[in-house]
Amino acid sequence: MKTRLSTNKLLMGFALLSFTQQSFAMETSYLPVSVTKTFEEIKKEDVKNKPMLMEKHMKLLNERYNLTEKVDPKATMSGGKPLPVGPTVKLKSGTSWENLSGMSPEEIKEKGLFPYLPLPHVVPESGGLVVSPKQLENHPELERFDMEFDLPDAYLPEFPPPMYLISRPDLGDVTGGEEITINNYFEKLNGILTPLQLDGLRLLVTPVAQQQFNVTGDRKADKAQDAVSCFTCHVNGHTSGVFHLNPDNRPQMTRFRIDTPTLRGVNVQHFFGSKRAIRSLVDFSEIEAKTAYFDGDPVIGHKKGARRFTREEVGAMAAMQNMLAFPPAPKLGIDGRLDPKKANDSELRGEKLFDKNCASCHPAPYYTDNSAHDLKVERFYKGRPEGLIKTFALRGLKDSPPYLHDGRLLTIEDTVEFFNLVLELKLKEEEKKDLVAFLRTL
Ligand code: HEC
Ligand code: HEC
Repeated sequence: MKTRLSTNKLLMGFALLSFTQQSFAMETSYLPVSVTKTFEEIKKEDVKNKPMLMEKHMKLLNERYNLTEKVDPKATMSGGKPLPVGPTVKLKSGTSWENLSGMSPEEIKEKGLFPYLPLPHVVPESGGLVVSPKQLENHPELERFDMEFDLPDAYLPEFPPPMYLISRPDLGDVTGGEEITINNYFEKLNGILTPLQLDGLRLLVTPVAQQQFNVTGDRKADKAQDAVSCFTCHVNGHTSGVFHLNPDNRPQMTRFRIDTPTLRGVNVQHFFGSKRAIRSLVDFSEIEAKTAYFDGDPVIGHKKGARRFTREEVGAMAAMQNMLAFPPAPKLGIDGRLDPKKANDSELRGEKLFDKNCASCHPAPYYTDNSAHDLKVERFYKGRPEGLIKTFALRGLKDSPPYLHDGRLLTIEDTVEFFNLVLELKLKEEEKKDLVAFLRTL
């Protein structure tokens, strides 16, 4: 009952807007099957509401963050994009990082000072897949008329990112700097992958129907077309920073924003999804296009033309995903720890701090314990607990901002400030710098 009340409260501000189908989802787990408005009617309303909704969201974002796009040109992601530098969050006036780490969680909560609140979806009432402007240059078909992407490019992974193969470390990036799509996958990877992997790749880049991009009248793109492939969000087997709503909660307004995780290194992981603990890549591949593409509603999937991959097909897709390697980390030795001959003093001090404070959940060589933990972040703010989340692998971390399941931590510096507060470590400024230096080497 509690959840429902707060949902309604959240909704009050939107009472005047009639959101197309999603507005019904607030009180039930299900989406309506029959949409009575025409595409033109829905679109007209969405286009009219968009500026007001975007303004509201961008106001919240600018209240929380300094989106100055500050970068470090000397430190780059694997493909050469400079790393964004933080912390990006704005502290409430009169507080400093030192003040904050000296306070108890209860005090921070009571005074409303926690800077890392959950990041909402741009328009949580509608939710769904939202693509960055950079990706839209390659894919104008993915433009939505009801909302836009919110974070500046500096805080996103490279587009397109490099793709490394476990089977061919000698080749380095196998994309030639391009986005792998249905139009070029064969010429690029034929002669490198096995026939099974190649067929898996074909399926991973084949556009199919998805909730917002399909041929029915309640889509969110101008053109009626099936436009979403696995590599739309996991571009080149990595991530483009496309965000969505998590699949595990109902009603609609209780769902979290969820940032697309990388698929690099999934071969060494034991379960998949931030909460669902799906045990195999085969199962994940099957479930993703069948239901996750349609807000976890198989009935809507049927209506909008969900692609149901066969067992053979999902097997091939999994075989290909298992080839996606973490990016090179030249300073790490064969045990996944810093090679003292290659690392500098700050990085080595950072590793020590990491061993002490972080490695119990993020052990080398992949920096994940293949488990899930509840960080109980709600100790620091008044709001709904988010519960258990998968311990993401930190190998290749520098390539995949923004961080945390919802992307609320825009830079590596923000991750260090976040964990300094959440784990109550009281690190000194120098120690935080060392920890950042270490995390950049992963
Ligand atoms: C709308 C963007 C989007 C598309 C399209 C997409 N994914 Fe994902 N993928 C996500 C998000 C978001 C998550 C995190 C879900 C969660 O935490 O429960 C995810 C998680 C995963 C994971 C688990 C990764 C991990 O570290 O736990 C795998 C594997 C995966 N996707 C494979 C696929 C496959 C295969 C396809 C195509 C059938 C696909 N995805 C299509 C966004 C997408
Ligand atoms: C109790 C276990 C635990 C400890 C200790 C821990 N982490 Fe984590 N870490 C997690 C979990 C769980 C997540 C995912 C949380 C989420 O997304 O909400 C995570 C996420 C992260 C992420 C974001 C990864 C990504 O790709 O989004 C970073 C960075 C990180 N941890 C760094 C650290 C550092 C640095 C420390 C030590 C100062 C640390 N962690 C200590 C469990 C832990």
